[in-house]
This record gives sequence, structure tokens and C-alpha cells, in this order.
Amino acid sequence: MSLNVLILAAGKGTRMNSKLPKVLQPLGGRPLLAHVINTAQALQADKVIGVIGHGADAVKQAFADSAVDWVLQTEQLGTGHAVSVAADHLDDDACVVILYGDVPLISDATLQDLIAQVKTTHPLALLTLIMHDSTGYGRIVRDSHFKVQAIVEEKDATPEQRQIKEVNTGIMAVRGLELKKWLSQLDNNNAQREYYLTDIIAMCVADGFEVNSAQPANAIEVLGVNDKVQLQALEREYQLAQATALMRQGVTLADASRLEIRGHVTAGKDVFIDVNVVLEGNNQLAEDVTIGANCHLKNVILGQGVKVQPFSHLEDCVIDADCVIGPYARLRPGTELAEGVRIGNFVETKKVRIGKGSKVNHLSYIGDTLMGEGCNIGAGTITCNYDGVNKHLTEIGNNVFVGSDTQLIAPVKVNDGATIGAGSTITKEVPAEELTLSRSKQLTIKGWHKPVKKG
Ligand code: UD1
Ligand code: MG
Repeated sequence: MSLNVLILAAGKGTRMNSKLPKVLQPLGGRPLLAHVINTAQALQADKVIGVIGHGADAVKQAFADSAVDWVLQTEQLGTGHAVSVAADHLDDDACVVILYGDVPLISDATLQDLIAQVKTTHPLALLTLIMHDSTGYGRIVRDSHFKVQAIVEEKDATPEQRQIKEVNTGIMAVRGLELKKWLSQLDNNNAQREYYLTDIIAMCVADGFEVNSAQPANAIEVLGVNDKVQLQALEREYQLAQATALMRQGVTLADASRLEIRGHVTAGKDVFIDVNVVLEGNNQLAEDVTIGANCHLKNVILGQGVKVQPFSHLEDCVIDADCVIGPYARLRPGTELAEGVRIGNFVETKKVRIGKGSKVNHLSYIGDTLMGEGCNIGAGTITCNYDGVNKHLTEIGNNVFVGSDTQLIAPVKVNDGATIGAGSTITKEVPAEELTLSRSKQLTIKGWHKPVKKG
């Protein structure tokens, strides 16, 4: 059997109170729907079909690069109707897995279990869950032999049926051929005047098939998101799960509840992450990296033993082993640091390559710069890289010493071993191994008196 994954995502999400369609609301920094599409891809689905309605254009645009067939459901007439509009995209001999754009944490392992239950002799399998409070959910009706008979929606249920604790998660796997047949028989004669997908369960039983069921490995997998309160609650669960996975790999966290991972992190052994750290995008942390409190890292690669001290902000950077960054450093895109570089407080870098062991320790802006090894850049050094129209390059050789409060007006080159006197404005190439400075001479007026205040 091939695999078709059908994702229902047409609902409005009124309770989100947001301009953003519900399935585009972020969880762990990615749209809810992105999680579901990723799971479909992890299952190696032959086809992924998304049913969209509210905010359809925005949803399509957000996933323009994903291999998803989109189907428009202009009116939301119920879950059964939503599946029907996609029927032409479903293969008869496929196992069709029905997922929801607002149920983001369903795992591929749980779905594998469910899919394994679908056979020619058992064309339908349900994912169910036992809940203490089953209010609002469709109830699983079983006979005296514990065989599934039907799903009854809460609004249509008898008081006895409402006592049932086993609920429909909404997720199911059905063979395409039978699914299409049953969909064509749906009606909306029920309390909500909707076409219920859940009515196909009784049809399956009526056709003489036994309905199998499976349960999720973890209840959070089937939690749906309807408002910002549930979104936040699920975010906490998701973050805790990610933090736990990191700790299992040998990462030490000061507080698992004060780490945010919005993307993907790989980490070597003995990494330490202090409180209130946000890791966004793809981050790679080698062994023995430490990240201080209140740092924000986005798409960075940190080599072994790198120390990022508190309140630092790094984006699109590659940092080699044993560099020390911060506190209060801002490393902007294109920053590449070789081994043992030190970037200190209130230093901003952008599009720079800095050689082994060089230091920029205080209050500097270094942009569009190639710097060699063993340099020492004094406090307050500014590369003046922008003339108001174009950006220009500053080239600094090896073992250069730049005195404090120097401006390097790019394009400009400083050769190996040069020393630049503090307070210089450098506009021309600086020769190697010499002292260069541009500074008006200091003078003292002998015998000068302070003015006296007039009567
Ligand atoms: C559905 C199930 C219920 C189950 C519950 C789990 C039915 C009839 N009932 O109820 O048994 O316990 O989910 O949460 O299936 N959608 C569309 N188009 C539509 C209608 C819905 O795309 O026309 C999408 C919604 O965006 C949503 C999902 O399907 O993501 C579920 O729809 P919803 O109306 O919330 O179903 P429930 O009444 O919660
Ligand atoms: Mg619902």
C-alpha cells in the first residue's frame, strides 16, 4: 500500500483573535502546519495533500517550497466534507492518514503504529485516547466484545454515551478505496448540520469490517490548538520535550524551563547552557561550549570550547574553537572567527573574517573586514565601511596593533605588524612594522589663567 497523508487545515481559528491563519501560528518558531508536514515527510508519504480554506493564499505562500498538493475547501461544511473535496487526489490502494494542521505534535512513531493496523481486511484504524474529561470530543462506542462500533459526537450523544472516556483524536488511517465509497454516503442529518468524517466508522462496521485502534505514545501528540492559551501551553510542552532531548545527549541546562529552541540544535557533550537562552534556526554547538545567561543565537556554528558570555547576540556566524565572545557582544551575519579570537563587550561585527588569536575587546564596530592573526584592536575602533552609498573593505594584516579610538576609513589596508597610534583617522594604506598616527600635536599654554567671573 502506498501512503497518502491528508492534512485538514481549512478552519478559521476564530478564537486565535489574530490576522495570521491558525495553522501559521508559530510553535517552536515554526508554523503549526510545518510540524505536521515534516511528520508526513518523515513517514515518507507518497503524497501530501493539504485542505485549506481560511487564509488559503497565505498558507500556500508559506509552504511554497513544500511538495504539498493544495485543495481548496471554500465552505467549511464539516470534517467529512473537507476530506471529500480532496477525494480525487487520494489513491484507491493507498493508506490515507488523516491529520490536522492544528494538531502539530503527532509523532511519526505513533502514526507508524496506526498505519500498521490498516490492511485489506481491516481498512480503517483509529487513533483514540482515554481522557479523564472527555468533554467536547467524539466518543468511541464499543460493543460488549470491545469492538469499535461508531463515533458519536458530543452534541449527538446520549447521556450514557457522554460518560465514555475513550475519545476520537480525529486522526485515522483508511484505505483509499473504502474511504471514497463511505464519503459518498455521508449526510448532515445531525445536531451540527455538518458532514461528519466520524460517520464512516459505523459504515465500516456495517460493511462487515472490524475497526482497529491505536493510542499515541504521549498524550501531547494529539492536543489541538484553538486559542493563544492552548498555543502557549503546547509551546511549554514542546520546549520541555526539546530540552529533555538535549539533556539526554549530555547537555547541561541551568533550567530546562528557561531555554527556548526555535529550530534545530545539535550539541556535543558537556555543553552548558545558562538561563534565558534563545536558540533560533539551525545551531551547532561542539563539545564543551558554554552559553551564558540571556544570549540569543541564530544559525551559528560554535567550535569546541567556545564561550559565549551573557547578553550576547549572534546571527549567521561561524566561530572556531576556544573563542570567547561577550558579555554584551553583537555578532552579525557573516562573522567568521578563527581559533581563540576574543570579542569583548559592546563590540559589533558584521561580514568579517578574523584570524587566530586576534582580540577586539571593547566598544568597537568591525564590518566588511578581513583581519589576520594576532591583532589587537583597541577600544572604540571603528571601521568606517559605508560612504552613504557603497560598502568598502578594510584589510588588516597579521600582528597589527590598533590604538584606541581609531577610525579606519575604508577602503583601506593596514599591513603586517603595523602599529596605529590612538585617536587616529586612517585614510591611506598603513605600512608594515611602522608606527602610523594621524593626530594633531598636543600643546600646553604655559601661564594660562582661568577666566574670572564678572562682578
Ligand atoms: C473533531 C471530531 C471529533 C474529535 C475532535 C478531536 C468530527 C465530526 N469530529 O471534532 O470526533 O473528537 O475532532 O479534536 O470529525 N476542518 C476543515 N474543514 C471543515 C471542518 C473542519 O478543514 O469543514 C478542520 C478544522 O480546521 C480542524 C479540524 O478539521 O483543524 C477539526 O475540525 P473541528 O470542527 O474542530 O472538529 P471537532 O468538532 O473538534
Ligand atoms: Mg475542534
